[in-house]
Amino acid sequence: MKLALTFNVKKENENVFAGAAESLHSKSAVGKYLNENILENYPERVDDTFAEWDSEETISAVKSALEAGGHDVTLIEADKDSFDKLKVLNPEFVFNIAEGSGGLSRESQMPAVLEMLEIPYTGSDPVTIGICHDKSRCKEILSYYGIPTPAFIITDAIHKVKGDIEFPKFVKPLHEGSSKGILNSSLVKNFTELRNEIVRIKETYNQPSLIEDYLEGKEFTVALAGNGDDLKVFPIVEINLDSVPEGFNKIYSYEVKWFFDTRESQLDIFRCPAEIDEKLEKKIKETCKRAFEVLRLRDWARIDVRLDKNNVPNIVEVNPLPGILPDPADNSCFPKAARHAGYDYNALINLVLNEAQKRKLTGN
Ligand SMILES: Nc1ncnc2c1ncn2[C@@H]1O[C@H](COP(=O)(O)OP(=O)(O)OP(=O)(O)O)[C@@H](O)[C@H]1O
Ligand SMILES: [Mg+2]
Repeated sequence: MKLALTFNVKKENENVFAGAAESLHSKSAVGKYLNENILENYPERVDDTFAEWDSEETISAVKSALEAGGHDVTLIEADKDSFDKLKVLNPEFVFNIAEGSGGLSRESQMPAVLEMLEIPYTGSDPVTIGICHDKSRCKEILSYYGIPTPAFIITDAIHKVKGDIEFPKFVKPLHEGSSKGILNSSLVKNFTELRNEIVRIKETYNQPSLIEDYLEGKEFTVALAGNGDDLKVFPIVEINLDSVPEGFNKIYSYEVKWFFDTRESQLDIFRCPAEIDEKLEKKIKETCKRAFEVLRLRDWARIDVRLDKNNVPNIVEVNPLPGILPDPADNSCFPKAARHAGYDYNALINLVLNEAQKRKLTGN
């Protein structure tokens, strides 16, 4: 089949970031930096501008996987010329991993372009992708259907927050992914810390903060692929927050994801399959399947879950374009969960394509 692979590729400044990561990767380096008050200096070291975009390695691994599935694949970067390039190429199907650029609905750009060109593609439609990219809109839908998700408020200024608010809270940018803007300081215990986070998010990302109740329990992430009755839930991955270096909060922050867990020095951060009892496993899987259904997700998604103080699984956020780093050393959750279900990288990519094609044929 004649396919296009649509993507956004990480640009140069990831090298700056990689350099910083190298200097931090050993345990002793972590200790040294902690001693030098890294918690205060950290944000300046972290440039996350292109964190959501894919590396050349990922893009070429997806291309090779599709070629191994017998397809003829053309790469199309999701830039301003992509509409014309797709129109000329006129592929039979598109495998879309483009996160888009600029604007709060950037992840919806490529699906919208493809709809206009009437080219079928993998993954969720522009509405669902846009809703999931605005974490509050996604939570509103989940709440409507009675699916647990932490209570929240949205604001861009501390004076708009009511005085009787209870701490701790968790503060994150409203419209980001890949842990952008989620630092150790995102867990706040008082008004001063809350104000600092609201200001940081406003100044760095020019967007309001989503202020949520803090979930203190275990954390999981759940990879799903397929649609309707064929929706598969891969083995649950537990985020082992005990492996977060001492002195850092038990959250899967940007620092943990991209600095402390590097290819050279992996944290023991994932447990797959999660070592949990059958009842909890069933509850988490049911919650995620229901979320997939009510959000009208398609073909694949990764859903982050954390237990509240009563051990009830709450949805933290939903990723309709999950990260898929190909090298197992990179600790990427979706490929890891798929491997445990017997799908290697190539099989996983072709499964998503096949599920999308099947959906198209059955008109869903
Ligand atoms: N309400 C909360 N209570 C406790 N921890 C939270 C809460 N919200 C987020 N976290 C922590 O912060 C991490 C990142 O948050 P979240 O998943 O919303 O960000 P993201 O940038 O969209 O992540 P991803 O990289 O998965 O796209 C979570 O994995 C979790 O450890
Ligand atoms: Mg997440």
